[in-house]
Amino acid sequence: MTTNRKFTLVKRPDGEPKPGDFKLVEEELPELADGAFLVRNHYISLDPAQRGWMSDAESYMPPIALGDAVRASAVGRVHASKNPDFAEGQWVVGLAAMEEFSVVEAGGFTSPVDVSLVPSPTNFLSVLGAVGMTAYFGMIEDGQPKEGDTLLVTGAAGAVGSLVGQIGKIKGCRVIGIAGGADKCARLIDHYGFDAAIDYRGKSQSELEAEIAAAAPDGVDIIWENVGGIILDAGLTAINEYGRVVLCGLISEYNSPEPVGIRNLWYLVSRQVTIKGFLVRDYPPRFPEGIAQMGQWLAEGKIKHDEDIVRGIENSYDAFMKLFSGGNQGKLILDVSPDK
Ligand SMILES: NC(=O)c1ccc[n+]([C@@H]2O[C@H](COP(=O)([O-])OP(=O)(O)OC[C@H]3O[C@@H](n4cnc5c(N)ncnc54)[C@H](OP(=O)(O)O)[C@@H]3O)[C@@H](O)[C@H]2O)c1
Repeated sequence: MTTNRKFTLVKRPDGEPKPGDFKLVEEELPELADGAFLVRNHYISLDPAQRGWMSDAESYMPPIALGDAVRASAVGRVHASKNPDFAEGQWVVGLAAMEEFSVVEAGGFTSPVDVSLVPSPTNFLSVLGAVGMTAYFGMIEDGQPKEGDTLLVTGAAGAVGSLVGQIGKIKGCRVIGIAGGADKCARLIDHYGFDAAIDYRGKSQSELEAEIAAAAPDGVDIIWENVGGIILDAGLTAINEYGRVVLCGLISEYNSPEPVGIRNLWYLVSRQVTIKGFLVRDYPPRFPEGIAQMGQWLAEGKIKHDEDIVRGIENSYDAFMKLFSGGNQGKLILDVSPDK
């Protein structure tokens, strides 16, 4: 009998998640039913979206049930199988949970992956996973970048934002990033090739508006929004006529008890701007196309990506909270692989 360690949700967070909202539990693994298989997770994706799944507010997915392991994407290897399509040892990626082993029932969402094609299996959670596909399809389909456009990216130094800005550069945009702190801003320019960077920390909305106006004297054609709050409101004052706002996420609001909302809506009316919510969950059927294009840009050295890997299921809480303190440098991943 094998035991499983699981990072479970025991209380719905009120504002910022606290250590007591979670419990690390050990339990014995169940017998596999016919058609099921058992995955030994190696790497678990830590995503801002998980904060939303911890609440019971209406959303695009049901809330995580209290007592369950926190839902997460993971990449791992089939450990035992009663499913003829998934042999032992096969690497798979899919929606699982923050736990060392996941049982995938017949028909469950898990896809085989070929890890020989990538430097690390973690790439299927980062640049070639949902994060990379968010940046790619969100930009191509909703951002619709054109040569000479100005693109403003918020949350720019993070997993999604850093890729969005680089795709903007490939498409001929002038790219401005907003991020927290001087180091991340320097990295936007020196490492990811952005044209300008704005440090939002400690700034009022009017100070941000002034800095955006200075960085984008001809206005902004596309806003890629990862943050929301005053950062989104400040960006809207610079939007050009017929501009596009891609609403990818609102991380500054995820721990707020009440929605913050947009106050500068009039700019959308007076400048005939399109604002659209984006969810990557519409795109899995097109992932092969996105993976091929991102893979080609990586091979050509046109895209850089970073992964921030924290070791150990026992460090789940501290690792997850890096997303809200800005402590992560690149795609945040929990390494729960068997002892190396
Ligand atoms: N719609 C979709 O399908 C989809 C898919 C994936 C991700 N997303 C969204 O994309 C956004 C970025 O996700 P990610 O996975 O790439 O995470 P990430 O950017 O790698 O990490 C989160 C970053 O957000 C910033 N942040 C946290 N709290 C903030 C606050 N109060 N104000 C301003 N910035 C704050 C921090 O960077 P700083 O140090 O710069 O503050 C932190 O490092 C999130 O909103 C997420 O929900 C959406």
